[in-house]
Amino acid sequence: MNDSVKPEGLRSRAWFDNPDNADMTALYLERYMNFGLSLEELQSGKPIIGIAQTGSDLSPCNRHHIVLAERVREGIREAGGIAIEFPVHPIQETGKRPTAALDRNLSYLGLVEVLYGYPLDGVVLTIGCDKTTPAALMAAATVNIPAIALSVGPMLNGHFKGQRTGSGTIVWKAREMLAAGEIDYKEFIKLVASSAPSTGYCNTMGTATTMNSLTEALGMSLPGSAAIPAPYRDRQECAYLTGKRIVEMVAEDLKPSDILTREAFENAICVNSAIGGSTNAPIHLAAIARHIGVDLPIGEWERLGHEIPLLVNLQPAGEYLGEDYYRAGGVPAVVAQLIRNGLIREAAITVNGKTIGENCADVEIEDERVIRPYADPLMENAGFIVLSGNLFDSAIMKTCVISKEFRDRYLSNPDDPGAFEGSAVVFDGPEEYHAKIDNKSVNITANTILFIRGAGPIGYPGSAEVVNMRPPAYLLEEGVHALPCVGDGRQSGTSGSPSILNASPEAAAMGGLALLRTGDRVRIDLRKRTADILISEDELSSRRQQLENAGGYAYPDSQTPWQEIQRNIVGQMSSGAILEGAEKYQRIAQT
Ligand code: FES
Ligand code: MG
Repeated sequence: MNDSVKPEGLRSRAWFDNPDNADMTALYLERYMNFGLSLEELQSGKPIIGIAQTGSDLSPCNRHHIVLAERVREGIREAGGIAIEFPVHPIQETGKRPTAALDRNLSYLGLVEVLYGYPLDGVVLTIGCDKTTPAALMAAATVNIPAIALSVGPMLNGHFKGQRTGSGTIVWKAREMLAAGEIDYKEFIKLVASSAPSTGYCNTMGTATTMNSLTEALGMSLPGSAAIPAPYRDRQECAYLTGKRIVEMVAEDLKPSDILTREAFENAICVNSAIGGSTNAPIHLAAIARHIGVDLPIGEWERLGHEIPLLVNLQPAGEYLGEDYYRAGGVPAVVAQLIRNGLIREAAITVNGKTIGENCADVEIEDERVIRPYADPLMENAGFIVLSGNLFDSAIMKTCVISKEFRDRYLSNPDDPGAFEGSAVVFDGPEEYHAKIDNKSVNITANTILFIRGAGPIGYPGSAEVVNMRPPAYLLEEGVHALPCVGDGRQSGTSGSPSILNASPEAAAMGGLALLRTGDRVRIDLRKRTADILISEDELSSRRQQLENAGGYAYPDSQTPWQEIQRNIVGQMSSGAILEGAEKYQRIAQT
Protein backbone atom coordinates (compact mmCIF):
# COMPACT_ATOMS: atom_id res chain seq x y z
CA MET A 1 0.00 0.00 0.00
CA ASN A 2 0.96 3.61 -0.31
CA ASP A 3 3.26 4.34 2.65
CA SER A 4 2.00 7.84 3.05
CA VAL A 5 -1.58 6.78 3.86
CA LYS A 6 -2.09 7.32 7.57
CA PRO A 7 -4.66 4.79 8.78
CA GLU A 8 -5.60 6.84 11.84
CA GLY A 9 -6.69 9.66 9.49
CA LEU A 10 -9.12 7.49 7.53
CA ARG A 11 -12.80 8.07 8.14
CA SER A 12 -13.55 4.39 7.42
CA ARG A 13 -11.71 3.49 10.64
CA ALA A 14 -14.69 4.82 12.58
CA TRP A 15 -16.67 1.91 11.09
CA PHE A 16 -14.19 -0.92 10.82
CA ASP A 17 -11.59 -0.46 13.53
CA ASN A 18 -13.07 1.52 16.39
CA PRO A 19 -12.12 0.07 19.81
CA ASP A 20 -14.40 2.65 21.47
CA ASN A 21 -17.41 1.15 19.74
CA ALA A 22 -16.62 -2.54 19.52
CA ASP A 23 -20.22 -3.71 19.08
CA MET A 24 -20.90 -1.55 16.07
CA THR A 25 -17.50 -2.32 14.59
CA ALA A 26 -18.32 -6.03 14.77
CA LEU A 27 -21.67 -5.47 13.08
CA TYR A 28 -20.21 -3.39 10.28
CA LEU A 29 -17.40 -5.85 9.75
CA GLU A 30 -19.39 -9.05 9.49
CA ARG A 31 -21.64 -7.74 6.72
CA TYR A 32 -18.89 -6.17 4.65
CA MET A 33 -16.91 -9.39 4.96
CA ASN A 34 -19.95 -11.06 3.44
CA PHE A 35 -18.89 -10.19 -0.09
CA GLY A 36 -15.39 -11.50 0.31
CA LEU A 37 -13.35 -8.89 2.13
CA SER A 38 -11.22 -10.29 4.93
CA LEU A 39 -10.90 -8.98 8.46
CA GLU A 40 -7.27 -8.33 7.73
CA GLU A 41 -8.09 -6.14 4.74
CA LEU A 42 -10.76 -4.16 6.52
CA GLN A 43 -8.62 -3.51 9.57
CA SER A 44 -5.33 -3.01 7.76
CA GLY A 45 -5.76 0.72 7.47
CA LYS A 46 -6.16 0.55 3.70
CA PRO A 47 -8.38 3.34 2.40
CA ILE A 48 -11.83 2.29 1.27
CA ILE A 49 -12.57 3.80 -2.13
CA GLY A 50 -16.09 3.98 -3.48
CA ILE A 51 -16.77 3.58 -7.16
CA ALA A 52 -19.99 5.52 -7.74
CA GLN A 53 -21.43 3.52 -10.63
CA THR A 54 -23.72 5.55 -12.90
CA GLY A 55 -23.82 2.98 -15.69
CA SER A 56 -26.64 0.48 -16.10
CA ASP A 57 -28.95 -0.90 -18.76
CA LEU A 58 -31.16 2.11 -18.04
CA SER A 59 -28.23 4.49 -18.59
CA PRO A 60 -26.71 3.32 -21.88
CA CYS A 61 -24.51 6.41 -22.30
CA ASN A 62 -22.70 5.48 -19.07
CA ARG A 63 -23.07 1.70 -19.41
CA HIS A 64 -19.43 1.19 -20.43
CA HIS A 65 -18.49 2.18 -16.87
CA ILE A 66 -19.51 -1.36 -15.87
CA VAL A 67 -16.49 -2.55 -17.87
CA LEU A 68 -14.24 0.36 -16.91
CA ALA A 69 -14.93 -0.18 -13.19
CA GLU A 70 -12.87 -3.38 -13.37
CA ARG A 71 -9.82 -1.37 -14.40
CA VAL A 72 -10.59 1.26 -11.76
CA ARG A 73 -10.62 -1.52 -9.15
CA GLU A 74 -7.25 -2.79 -10.37
CA GLY A 75 -5.81 0.69 -10.06
CA ILE A 76 -7.21 1.10 -6.57
CA ARG A 77 -5.87 -2.30 -5.48
CA GLU A 78 -2.49 -1.66 -7.06
CA ALA A 79 -2.15 1.57 -5.09
CA GLY A 80 -3.12 -0.09 -1.82
CA GLY A 81 -6.83 0.68 -1.52
CA ILE A 82 -9.98 -1.38 -1.25
CA ALA A 83 -12.66 -0.79 -3.88
CA ILE A 84 -16.37 -0.81 -3.08
CA GLU A 85 -18.66 -0.26 -6.05
CA PHE A 86 -22.21 0.96 -5.55
CA PRO A 87 -25.06 2.10 -7.81
CA VAL A 88 -26.09 5.69 -8.38
CA HIS A 89 -29.68 6.55 -9.31
CA PRO A 90 -29.77 6.28 -13.11
CA ILE A 91 -30.21 9.35 -15.27
CA GLN A 92 -30.81 8.72 -18.96
CA GLU A 93 -31.01 11.99 -20.81
CA THR A 94 -33.20 10.82 -23.65
CA GLY A 95 -35.17 8.06 -21.95
CA LYS A 96 -36.41 9.52 -18.67
CA ARG A 97 -39.94 10.95 -18.57
CA PRO A 98 -40.90 13.67 -18.20
CA THR A 99 -37.29 14.87 -18.25
CA ALA A 100 -33.87 13.77 -17.04
CA ALA A 101 -33.45 17.18 -15.41
CA LEU A 102 -35.94 16.10 -12.77
CA ASP A 103 -33.47 13.49 -11.56
CA ARG A 104 -30.26 15.49 -11.29
CA ASN A 105 -31.15 16.70 -7.80
CA LEU A 106 -32.53 13.29 -6.82
CA SER A 107 -29.32 11.58 -7.88
CA TYR A 108 -27.39 14.26 -6.01
CA LEU A 109 -29.38 13.64 -2.83
CA GLY A 110 -28.90 9.88 -3.06
CA LEU A 111 -25.17 10.18 -3.64
CA VAL A 112 -24.75 12.63 -0.74
CA GLU A 113 -26.37 10.09 1.58
CA VAL A 114 -24.10 7.29 0.34
CA LEU A 115 -20.87 9.28 0.51
CA TYR A 116 -21.72 10.67 3.93
CA GLY A 117 -23.31 7.64 5.54
CA TYR A 118 -21.01 4.79 4.49
CA PRO A 119 -17.38 3.98 5.30
CA LEU A 120 -15.76 5.65 2.31
CA ASP A 121 -12.42 7.47 2.38
CA GLY A 122 -12.52 8.60 -1.21
CA VAL A 123 -14.63 8.12 -4.33
CA VAL A 124 -14.31 7.67 -8.06
CA LEU A 125 -17.23 9.42 -9.72
CA THR A 126 -18.16 7.74 -13.00
CA ILE A 127 -19.53 10.48 -15.23
CA GLY A 128 -20.77 10.81 -18.79
CA CYS A 129 -24.38 11.45 -19.83
CA ASP A 130 -25.50 15.05 -19.33
CA LYS A 131 -26.88 15.15 -15.79
CA THR A 132 -24.75 12.35 -14.32
CA THR A 133 -21.74 14.65 -14.29
CA PRO A 134 -23.21 17.59 -12.36
CA ALA A 135 -25.12 15.29 -9.99
CA ALA A 136 -21.87 13.53 -9.05
CA LEU A 137 -19.80 16.71 -8.71
CA MET A 138 -22.53 18.43 -6.68
CA ALA A 139 -22.58 15.51 -4.22
CA ALA A 140 -18.79 15.36 -3.98
CA ALA A 141 -18.81 19.11 -3.30
CA THR A 142 -21.32 18.78 -0.47
CA VAL A 143 -19.67 15.83 1.26
CA ASN A 144 -16.10 16.87 0.43
CA ILE A 145 -14.24 13.58 0.68
CA PRO A 146 -11.39 13.12 -1.83
CA ALA A 147 -13.04 12.58 -5.20
CA ILE A 148 -11.91 12.09 -8.78
CA ALA A 149 -14.14 11.92 -11.84
CA LEU A 150 -13.77 9.34 -14.59
CA SER A 151 -15.50 10.16 -17.85
CA VAL A 152 -16.92 7.25 -19.83
CA GLY A 153 -15.92 9.06 -23.03
CA PRO A 154 -17.83 9.88 -26.19
CA MET A 155 -19.10 7.42 -28.77
CA LEU A 156 -17.13 6.90 -31.96
CA ASN A 157 -17.98 9.25 -34.83
CA GLY A 158 -21.25 8.58 -36.63
CA HIS A 159 -21.36 8.45 -40.44
CA PHE A 160 -24.09 8.41 -43.08
CA LYS A 161 -23.27 8.32 -46.78
CA GLY A 162 -19.79 9.65 -46.15
CA GLN A 163 -20.88 12.52 -43.91
CA ARG A 164 -20.31 12.76 -40.16
CA THR A 165 -23.56 12.42 -38.25
CA GLY A 166 -23.48 13.71 -34.70
CA SER A 167 -25.66 12.78 -31.74
CA GLY A 168 -28.67 14.98 -31.27
CA THR A 169 -27.60 17.45 -33.93
CA ILE A 170 -28.66 14.99 -36.64
CA VAL A 171 -32.03 14.54 -34.90
CA TRP A 172 -32.80 18.25 -35.16
CA LYS A 173 -31.78 18.21 -38.81
CA ALA A 174 -33.59 14.97 -39.63
CA ARG A 175 -36.85 16.09 -38.06
CA GLU A 176 -36.82 19.19 -40.25
CA MET A 177 -36.15 17.00 -43.31
CA LEU A 178 -39.02 14.72 -42.31
CA ALA A 179 -41.35 17.68 -41.73
CA ALA A 180 -40.40 19.12 -45.11
CA GLY A 181 -41.06 15.76 -46.82
CA GLU A 182 -37.42 15.29 -47.93
CA ILE A 183 -37.13 11.89 -46.21
CA ASP A 184 -39.63 9.28 -45.01
CA TYR A 185 -39.92 7.84 -41.50
CA LYS A 186 -37.69 4.83 -42.27
CA GLU A 187 -34.92 7.05 -43.59
CA PHE A 188 -35.37 9.35 -40.63
CA ILE A 189 -34.75 6.50 -38.16
CA LYS A 190 -31.77 5.22 -40.18
CA LEU A 191 -30.19 8.66 -40.32
CA VAL A 192 -30.61 9.21 -36.58
CA ALA A 193 -29.34 5.71 -35.66
CA SER A 194 -26.17 6.28 -37.72
CA SER A 195 -25.06 8.90 -35.22
CA ALA A 196 -24.73 6.38 -32.38
CA PRO A 197 -22.26 3.72 -33.60
CA SER A 198 -20.79 2.58 -30.26
CA THR A 199 -20.89 2.70 -26.51
CA GLY A 200 -20.25 6.13 -24.95
CA TYR A 201 -21.99 9.48 -24.66
CA CYS A 202 -23.06 11.93 -27.36
CA ASN A 203 -20.21 12.53 -29.80
CA THR A 204 -21.15 16.16 -30.50
CA MET A 205 -20.29 19.16 -28.32
CA GLY A 206 -23.58 18.62 -26.50
CA THR A 207 -24.06 18.79 -22.77
CA ALA A 208 -22.20 15.52 -22.17
CA THR A 209 -18.98 16.49 -23.99
CA THR A 210 -19.30 19.96 -22.48
CA MET A 211 -19.70 18.80 -18.89
CA ASN A 212 -16.97 16.17 -19.18
CA SER A 213 -14.63 18.79 -20.69
CA LEU A 214 -15.52 21.28 -17.95
CA THR A 215 -14.95 18.64 -15.28
CA GLU A 216 -11.39 18.39 -16.58
CA ALA A 217 -11.12 22.19 -16.81
CA LEU A 218 -12.28 22.42 -13.20
CA GLY A 219 -9.46 20.05 -12.28
CA MET A 220 -11.68 17.18 -11.17
CA SER A 221 -10.48 14.56 -13.69
CA LEU A 222 -7.03 13.57 -14.94
CA PRO A 223 -5.56 15.91 -17.55
CA GLY A 224 -6.29 14.73 -21.08
CA SER A 225 -8.94 12.28 -19.95
CA ALA A 226 -12.23 13.91 -20.97
CA ALA A 227 -12.08 13.48 -24.72
CA ILE A 228 -10.89 9.85 -24.97
CA PRO A 229 -13.61 7.95 -26.88
CA ALA A 230 -15.31 5.26 -24.81
CA PRO A 231 -14.17 2.21 -26.82
CA TYR A 232 -10.51 3.30 -27.14
CA ARG A 233 -7.73 1.40 -25.37
CA ASP A 234 -6.62 4.68 -23.79
CA ARG A 235 -9.94 4.86 -21.94
CA GLN A 236 -9.15 1.58 -20.14
CA GLU A 237 -5.73 2.90 -19.18
CA CYS A 238 -7.29 6.11 -17.94
CA ALA A 239 -9.67 4.09 -15.73
CA TYR A 240 -6.72 2.27 -14.18
CA LEU A 241 -4.76 5.49 -13.58
CA THR A 242 -7.84 7.14 -12.06
CA GLY A 243 -8.16 4.24 -9.59
CA LYS A 244 -4.51 4.54 -8.65
CA ARG A 245 -4.68 8.28 -8.25
CA ILE A 246 -7.66 8.39 -5.88
CA VAL A 247 -5.71 6.32 -3.33
CA GLU A 248 -2.91 8.88 -3.45
CA MET A 249 -5.44 11.70 -3.14
CA VAL A 250 -6.75 10.17 0.08
CA ALA A 251 -3.17 10.05 1.40
CA GLU A 252 -2.67 13.67 0.41
CA ASP A 253 -6.11 14.64 1.73
CA LEU A 254 -6.76 16.43 -1.57
CA LYS A 255 -10.44 17.25 -1.43
CA PRO A 256 -13.02 18.90 -3.76
CA SER A 257 -12.80 22.11 -1.71
CA ASP A 258 -9.08 22.34 -2.62
CA ILE A 259 -9.88 21.98 -6.33
CA LEU A 260 -13.28 23.60 -6.86
CA THR A 261 -12.12 27.14 -6.14
CA ARG A 262 -13.37 30.36 -7.68
CA GLU A 263 -10.37 30.25 -10.06
CA ALA A 264 -11.37 26.78 -11.21
CA PHE A 265 -14.88 27.95 -12.08
CA GLU A 266 -13.51 30.97 -13.93
CA ASN A 267 -11.30 28.62 -15.95
CA ALA A 268 -14.29 26.43 -16.75
CA ILE A 269 -16.31 29.42 -18.02
CA CYS A 270 -13.46 30.41 -20.37
CA VAL A 271 -13.01 26.84 -21.59
CA ASN A 272 -16.76 26.57 -22.21
CA SER A 273 -16.65 29.47 -24.65
CA ALA A 274 -13.59 28.09 -26.45
CA ILE A 275 -15.17 24.66 -26.92
CA GLY A 276 -18.59 26.04 -27.93
CA GLY A 277 -20.11 24.41 -24.87
CA SER A 278 -23.72 23.73 -24.03
CA THR A 279 -26.23 26.23 -22.65
CA ASN A 280 -26.82 23.73 -19.86
CA ALA A 281 -23.33 24.41 -18.48
CA PRO A 282 -24.24 27.63 -16.61
CA ILE A 283 -27.01 25.82 -14.74
CA HIS A 284 -24.82 22.90 -13.70
CA LEU A 285 -21.76 24.96 -12.83
CA ALA A 286 -23.88 27.30 -10.73
CA ALA A 287 -25.21 24.24 -8.90
CA ILE A 288 -21.75 22.78 -8.24
CA ALA A 289 -20.46 26.20 -7.18
CA ARG A 290 -23.27 26.71 -4.70
CA HIS A 291 -22.70 23.32 -3.11
CA ILE A 292 -19.00 24.06 -2.59
CA GLY A 293 -19.69 27.65 -1.47
CA VAL A 294 -18.38 29.63 -4.45
CA ASP A 295 -20.40 32.63 -5.58
CA LEU A 296 -20.93 32.43 -9.35
CA PRO A 297 -23.66 34.81 -10.55
CA ILE A 298 -25.05 34.26 -14.05
CA GLY A 299 -23.53 37.55 -15.27
CA GLU A 300 -20.06 36.01 -14.91
CA TRP A 301 -20.73 33.92 -18.02
CA GLU A 302 -20.86 37.02 -20.15
CA ARG A 303 -18.24 39.00 -18.19
CA LEU A 304 -15.61 36.26 -18.33
CA GLY A 305 -16.75 34.18 -21.27
CA HIS A 306 -18.27 36.31 -23.99
CA GLU A 307 -15.07 37.62 -25.53
CA ILE A 308 -13.38 34.24 -25.70
CA PRO A 309 -13.14 32.94 -29.28
CA LEU A 310 -14.52 29.60 -30.46
CA LEU A 311 -11.59 27.23 -31.00
CA VAL A 312 -13.15 23.78 -31.15
CA ASN A 313 -14.73 22.87 -34.47
CA LEU A 314 -17.28 20.34 -33.24
CA GLN A 315 -20.95 20.02 -34.14
CA PRO A 316 -23.33 21.75 -33.52
CA ALA A 317 -21.27 24.98 -33.83
CA GLY A 318 -18.76 23.35 -36.21
CA GLU A 319 -18.29 20.20 -38.26
CA TYR A 320 -16.27 17.53 -36.45
CA LEU A 321 -17.04 14.98 -33.70
CA GLY A 322 -15.62 13.38 -30.56
CA GLU A 323 -12.89 11.20 -32.06
CA ASP A 324 -11.52 14.19 -33.95
CA TYR A 325 -11.55 16.28 -30.74
CA TYR A 326 -9.47 13.65 -28.94
CA ARG A 327 -6.95 13.28 -31.77
CA ALA A 328 -6.57 17.06 -31.96
CA GLY A 329 -5.51 17.23 -28.32
CA GLY A 330 -8.74 17.50 -26.33
CA VAL A 331 -9.11 19.82 -23.35
CA PRO A 332 -5.35 20.33 -22.64
CA ALA A 333 -4.75 21.65 -26.17
CA VAL A 334 -7.61 24.14 -25.74
CA VAL A 335 -6.42 25.18 -22.27
CA ALA A 336 -2.87 25.69 -23.61
CA GLN A 337 -4.17 28.17 -26.20
CA LEU A 338 -6.03 30.06 -23.50
CA ILE A 339 -2.99 30.01 -21.18
CA ARG A 340 -0.83 31.56 -23.88
CA ASN A 341 -3.34 34.39 -24.10
CA GLY A 342 -3.55 35.01 -20.38
CA LEU A 343 -7.05 33.59 -19.97
CA ILE A 344 -6.47 30.75 -17.50
CA ARG A 345 -5.86 31.04 -13.76
CA GLU A 346 -2.83 28.78 -13.98
CA ALA A 347 -2.36 28.14 -10.27
CA ALA A 348 -5.65 26.23 -9.91
CA ILE A 349 -4.83 22.80 -8.49
CA THR A 350 -6.14 19.64 -10.15
CA VAL A 351 -6.70 16.02 -9.09
CA ASN A 352 -3.20 14.96 -10.11
CA GLY A 353 -1.79 17.35 -7.51
CA LYS A 354 -0.37 19.67 -10.13
CA THR A 355 -1.74 22.99 -11.32
CA ILE A 356 -3.67 23.33 -14.55
CA GLY A 357 -0.79 25.45 -15.81
CA GLU A 358 1.74 22.68 -15.15
CA ASN A 359 -0.53 20.13 -16.80
CA CYS A 360 -1.42 22.01 -19.94
CA ALA A 361 0.94 24.91 -20.76
CA ASP A 362 3.16 22.91 -23.12
CA VAL A 363 0.47 20.96 -24.94
CA GLU A 364 0.30 21.54 -28.70
CA ILE A 365 -2.66 21.21 -31.04
CA GLU A 366 -2.40 18.02 -33.12
CA ASP A 367 -4.94 18.95 -35.80
CA GLU A 368 -5.70 22.60 -36.42
CA ARG A 369 -8.79 21.81 -38.47
CA VAL A 370 -10.45 20.55 -35.29
CA ILE A 371 -8.89 22.75 -32.61
CA ARG A 372 -7.99 26.12 -34.00
CA PRO A 373 -5.12 28.24 -32.71
CA TYR A 374 -6.21 31.27 -30.70
CA ALA A 375 -4.99 33.60 -33.44
CA ASP A 376 -7.17 31.91 -36.07
CA PRO A 377 -10.45 31.00 -34.35
CA LEU A 378 -13.70 29.79 -35.86
CA MET A 379 -15.43 32.84 -34.40
CA GLU A 380 -14.53 35.82 -32.22
CA ASN A 381 -16.56 36.64 -29.09
CA ALA A 382 -18.13 33.20 -28.99
CA GLY A 383 -19.38 33.00 -25.42
CA PHE A 384 -22.86 33.48 -24.03
CA ILE A 385 -24.65 36.76 -23.64
CA VAL A 386 -27.02 37.35 -20.74
CA LEU A 387 -30.25 39.24 -21.45
CA SER A 388 -32.84 40.79 -19.17
CA GLY A 389 -36.01 42.87 -19.38
CA ASN A 390 -39.66 42.73 -18.44
CA LEU A 391 -39.85 39.16 -19.79
CA PHE A 392 -37.30 37.79 -17.30
CA ASP A 393 -34.48 38.81 -14.95
CA SER A 394 -32.01 36.72 -16.90
CA ALA A 395 -31.79 34.43 -19.89
CA ILE A 396 -28.83 33.34 -21.95
CA MET A 397 -28.01 33.04 -25.62
CA LYS A 398 -25.26 31.00 -27.21
CA THR A 399 -23.87 33.39 -29.77
CA CYS A 400 -21.63 30.91 -31.58
CA VAL A 401 -24.60 29.07 -33.10
CA ILE A 402 -26.35 32.10 -34.58
CA SER A 403 -26.66 31.09 -38.24
CA LYS A 404 -25.98 33.28 -41.25
CA GLU A 405 -29.67 33.02 -42.17
CA PHE A 406 -30.64 34.31 -38.73
CA ARG A 407 -28.05 37.06 -38.77
CA ASP A 408 -29.17 38.21 -42.22
CA ARG A 409 -32.84 38.27 -41.28
CA TYR A 410 -32.68 39.68 -37.77
CA LEU A 411 -29.36 41.36 -37.22
CA SER A 412 -28.78 43.19 -40.48
CA ASN A 413 -30.55 46.47 -39.69
CA PRO A 414 -27.61 48.90 -40.02
CA ASP A 415 -29.30 51.58 -37.88
CA ASP A 416 -29.76 49.37 -34.89
CA PRO A 417 -27.74 46.21 -35.28
CA GLY A 418 -28.72 43.50 -32.90
CA ALA A 419 -32.33 44.56 -32.38
CA PHE A 420 -35.45 42.98 -33.78
CA GLU A 421 -39.14 43.11 -33.14
CA GLY A 422 -41.72 40.47 -33.78
CA SER A 423 -45.12 39.27 -32.90
CA ALA A 424 -45.25 36.65 -30.13
CA VAL A 425 -46.77 33.19 -30.47
CA VAL A 426 -46.84 31.61 -27.03
CA PHE A 427 -47.00 27.89 -26.23
CA ASP A 428 -47.78 26.67 -22.72
CA GLY A 429 -45.53 23.64 -22.39
CA PRO A 430 -44.04 21.26 -24.95
CA GLU A 431 -47.26 19.33 -25.49
CA GLU A 432 -49.05 22.43 -26.75
CA TYR A 433 -46.10 23.28 -28.99
CA HIS A 434 -46.10 19.81 -30.55
CA ALA A 435 -49.88 19.84 -30.99
CA LYS A 436 -50.09 23.28 -32.58
CA ILE A 437 -46.85 24.12 -34.37
CA ASP A 438 -48.03 22.97 -37.81
CA ASN A 439 -51.54 24.34 -37.40
CA LYS A 440 -51.96 27.19 -39.91
CA SER A 441 -54.61 28.92 -37.79
CA VAL A 442 -51.91 29.76 -35.20
CA ASN A 443 -50.66 32.11 -37.87
CA ILE A 444 -46.90 31.78 -37.45
CA THR A 445 -45.05 33.85 -40.03
CA ALA A 446 -41.41 34.57 -40.80
CA ASN A 447 -41.70 37.54 -38.40
CA THR A 448 -42.98 35.54 -35.45
CA ILE A 449 -40.99 35.11 -32.25
CA LEU A 450 -41.82 31.72 -30.76
CA PHE A 451 -42.18 31.53 -26.98
CA ILE A 452 -42.48 28.50 -24.77
CA ARG A 453 -43.22 28.72 -21.07
CA GLY A 454 -44.25 26.35 -18.33
CA ALA A 455 -40.98 24.57 -19.13
CA GLY A 456 -38.86 25.63 -16.13
CA PRO A 457 -37.79 23.72 -13.00
CA ILE A 458 -41.21 24.16 -11.35
CA GLY A 459 -43.43 24.26 -14.42
CA TYR A 460 -42.36 21.12 -16.21
CA PRO A 461 -41.02 19.86 -13.46
CA GLY A 462 -37.22 19.66 -13.62
CA SER A 463 -37.21 21.88 -16.73
CA ALA A 464 -37.67 20.63 -20.27
CA GLU A 465 -35.25 20.77 -23.20
CA VAL A 466 -37.71 22.35 -25.57
CA VAL A 467 -36.81 25.93 -26.36
CA ASN A 468 -35.27 25.03 -29.71
CA MET A 469 -38.61 24.91 -31.55
CA ARG A 470 -38.64 24.29 -35.27
CA PRO A 471 -40.72 26.53 -37.54
CA PRO A 472 -43.97 25.05 -38.89
CA ALA A 473 -43.69 22.67 -41.83
CA TYR A 474 -45.24 25.21 -44.22
CA LEU A 475 -42.48 27.74 -43.40
CA LEU A 476 -39.75 25.10 -43.67
CA GLU A 477 -41.03 24.34 -47.16
CA GLU A 478 -40.68 28.04 -47.96
CA GLY A 479 -37.05 27.92 -46.79
CA VAL A 480 -37.43 29.50 -43.35
CA HIS A 481 -35.27 27.21 -41.23
CA ALA A 482 -35.16 29.13 -37.97
CA LEU A 483 -37.36 31.48 -35.99
CA PRO A 484 -36.21 33.23 -32.83
CA CYS A 485 -37.20 31.11 -29.85
CA VAL A 486 -37.47 32.27 -26.26
CA GLY A 487 -38.42 30.26 -23.21
CA ASP A 488 -38.12 29.34 -19.58
CA GLY A 489 -36.95 25.84 -20.48
CA ARG A 490 -33.59 24.66 -21.67
CA GLN A 491 -32.46 23.31 -25.00
CA SER A 492 -30.35 20.36 -25.86
CA GLY A 493 -26.66 21.16 -25.98
CA THR A 494 -26.64 19.42 -29.35
CA SER A 495 -28.98 22.02 -30.81
CA GLY A 496 -27.62 24.78 -33.00
CA SER A 497 -30.70 26.90 -32.47
CA PRO A 498 -30.14 30.60 -31.68
CA SER A 499 -32.58 30.54 -28.77
CA ILE A 500 -32.90 32.73 -25.72
CA LEU A 501 -33.34 30.27 -22.94
CA ASN A 502 -33.03 29.33 -19.28
CA ALA A 503 -35.24 32.37 -18.56
CA SER A 504 -35.43 33.03 -14.84
CA PRO A 505 -37.74 33.43 -13.06
CA GLU A 506 -39.89 31.01 -15.01
CA ALA A 507 -43.59 31.55 -15.73
CA ALA A 508 -44.52 29.10 -12.97
CA ALA A 509 -42.66 31.36 -10.52
CA MET A 510 -44.59 34.33 -11.99
CA GLY A 511 -41.73 35.69 -14.06
CA GLY A 512 -42.62 38.14 -16.84
CA LEU A 513 -43.12 35.34 -19.37
CA ALA A 514 -46.31 34.42 -17.50
CA LEU A 515 -47.79 37.77 -18.55
CA LEU A 516 -47.07 37.47 -22.26
CA ARG A 517 -49.94 36.88 -24.71
CA THR A 518 -49.96 35.66 -28.27
CA GLY A 519 -50.04 38.70 -30.54
CA ASP A 520 -47.97 40.93 -28.22
CA ARG A 521 -45.15 42.84 -29.87
CA VAL A 522 -41.79 41.90 -28.42
CA ARG A 523 -38.50 43.67 -28.89
CA ILE A 524 -35.21 41.89 -28.45
CA ASP A 525 -32.05 43.95 -28.55
CA LEU A 526 -29.03 41.70 -28.57
CA ARG A 527 -26.66 44.65 -28.47
CA LYS A 528 -28.25 46.14 -25.38
CA ARG A 529 -28.98 42.65 -24.00
CA THR A 530 -32.67 43.39 -23.47
CA ALA A 531 -35.90 41.49 -24.13
CA ASP A 532 -39.22 43.22 -23.50
CA ILE A 533 -42.92 42.96 -24.21
CA LEU A 534 -43.87 46.28 -25.76
CA ILE A 535 -46.74 47.15 -23.47
CA SER A 536 -47.13 49.75 -20.74
CA GLU A 537 -46.16 49.23 -17.10
CA ASP A 538 -49.85 49.67 -16.20
CA GLU A 539 -50.95 46.97 -18.60
CA LEU A 540 -48.22 44.67 -17.23
CA SER A 541 -49.30 45.18 -13.61
CA SER A 542 -52.95 44.72 -14.44
CA ARG A 543 -52.15 41.44 -16.23
CA ARG A 544 -50.11 40.36 -13.19
CA GLN A 545 -52.99 41.21 -10.88
CA GLN A 546 -55.45 39.27 -13.04
CA LEU A 547 -53.20 36.21 -13.09
CA GLU A 548 -52.59 36.35 -9.35
CA ASN A 549 -56.33 36.59 -8.75
CA ALA A 550 -56.75 33.49 -10.89
CA GLY A 551 -54.30 31.60 -8.66
CA GLY A 552 -51.09 32.21 -10.63
CA TYR A 553 -49.67 30.61 -13.75
CA ALA A 554 -51.24 27.16 -14.13
CA TYR A 555 -49.10 24.10 -14.78
CA PRO A 556 -49.90 20.38 -14.86
CA ASP A 557 -50.19 18.35 -11.65
CA SER A 558 -47.28 16.32 -10.39
CA GLN A 559 -47.29 12.66 -11.41
CA THR A 560 -44.90 11.30 -8.77
CA PRO A 561 -44.00 12.14 -5.15
CA TRP A 562 -40.56 13.37 -6.16
CA GLN A 563 -42.02 15.81 -8.69
CA GLU A 564 -44.09 17.36 -5.94
CA ILE A 565 -41.24 17.46 -3.42
CA GLN A 566 -38.80 18.99 -5.91
CA ARG A 567 -41.35 21.60 -7.10
CA ASN A 568 -41.75 22.85 -3.57
CA ILE A 569 -38.06 23.48 -2.96
CA VAL A 570 -36.28 23.87 -6.29
CA GLY A 571 -34.67 27.19 -7.21
CA GLN A 572 -34.44 28.90 -10.59
CA MET A 573 -32.00 28.05 -13.37
CA SER A 574 -29.99 31.25 -13.03
CA SER A 575 -28.83 30.01 -9.62
CA GLY A 576 -28.39 26.37 -10.55
CA ALA A 577 -31.91 24.99 -9.99
CA ILE A 578 -30.69 23.29 -6.84
CA LEU A 579 -32.78 22.20 -3.88
CA GLU A 580 -32.88 25.45 -1.97
CA GLY A 581 -31.68 24.82 1.55
CA ALA A 582 -29.35 21.98 0.56
CA GLU A 583 -26.48 24.40 -0.01
CA LYS A 584 -26.15 25.07 3.71
CA TYR A 585 -24.84 21.52 4.12
CA GLN A 586 -21.23 21.89 3.06
CA ARG A 587 -18.10 19.84 3.71
CA ILE A 588 -20.16 17.54 5.87
CA ALA A 589 -17.59 14.74 6.00
CA GLN A 590 -15.43 17.04 8.10
CA THR A 591 -18.13 17.86 10.63
FE1 FES B 1 -26.63 10.56 -22.83
FE2 FES B 1 -26.29 12.37 -24.88
S1 FES B 1 -28.06 11.26 -24.30
S2 FES B 1 -24.89 11.61 -23.45
MG1 MG C 1 -29.60 17.23 -22.96
